[in-house]
Amino acid sequence: MKKLAFFNVKGGVGKTTSAVNIAWQAAEDGINTLLWDLDPQSCASWYLGVDEADRPKKSLNLFRGKEPVGKLRLHTTHARLSVIPADLSLRKLELLLADQEKSKQLLQKLSDDLSEQNKLLIFDCAPAYSKLSESLFSTCDVLAVPLLPSPLSLRSYSQLQTFLQKKKSWRKLKLQPFFTMVDRRRKIHNDVIEDAKNVIGDDDPVVIPYASDFEKMGLHRAPIQTFAAASAAAKAYGELWKRLRNDFV
Ligand SMILES: Nc1ncnc2c1ncn2[C@@H]1O[C@H](COP(=O)(O)OP(=O)(O)OP(=O)(O)O)[C@@H](O)[C@H]1O
Ligand SMILES: [Mg+2]
Repeated sequence: MKKLAFFNVKGGVGKTTSAVNIAWQAAEDGINTLLWDLDPQSCASWYLGVDEADRPKKSLNLFRGKEPVGKLRLHTTHARLSVIPADLSLRKLELLLADQEKSKQLLQKLSDDLSEQNKLLIFDCAPAYSKLSESLFSTCDVLAVPLLPSPLSLRSYSQLQTFLQKKKSWRKLKLQPFFTMVDRRRKIHNDVIEDAKNVIGDDDPVVIPYASDFEKMGLHRAPIQTFAAASAAAKAYGELWKRLRNDFV
């Protein structure tokens, strides 16, 4: 089982939107995919149709070792796509991890149980450097990093690259940066993407356009490909999946 996390220390940059659309795309490609929602806001769970009443147990219990991880896994209406939903109990996760000596290995240990039924595990996380994100860095094969087309965003990406050099187990992590919410009519967006090529080491980065169809995911509570498959926005996630799938298939 391969593990992919959508991570950026900045909020509102498209982590959840990307995690949900890529999870759908992977499942559509025939890969048994599990999206593990680690953000107490539980937006990814919501986009995949999970309601409060569907949740069998509090998510935090998983991290206390009280429940086998698989018990919280729910099927979605999409073939080969399941979800471990989040809930507000996860707001206490950092306190819990602070007391655990081996918190860096925790996600690795917990996700071992999931490898029989799933080929790809995708994490959606809250925007922060935290004990949880350090555990993700130790566990994942690929970190997909959505970047807004702004100079500050590139600076924060460079900081992440530097941070990931700190630990041996983090250095093997593959980074897959891509741009989100891009308006090609704006010179600043084009300029930043051009300048970024050196920083991110990619001459032809994946660019997800700014599109109102992404907001409609909240109306449909479904991945964009299910209601606007022909849009440039949906196709852009197809492009991102093509890059990512090389690491998984
Ligand atoms: N390419 C896009 N074009 C237009 N709107 C977008 C795009 N991608 C995401 N959005 C919208 O931007 C908002 C933030 O997106 P999203 O929730 O995916 O970000 P996030 O990084 O997960 O946020 P958080 O840090 O709060 O978890 C949402 O309302 C979403 O619908
Ligand atoms: Mg999010």
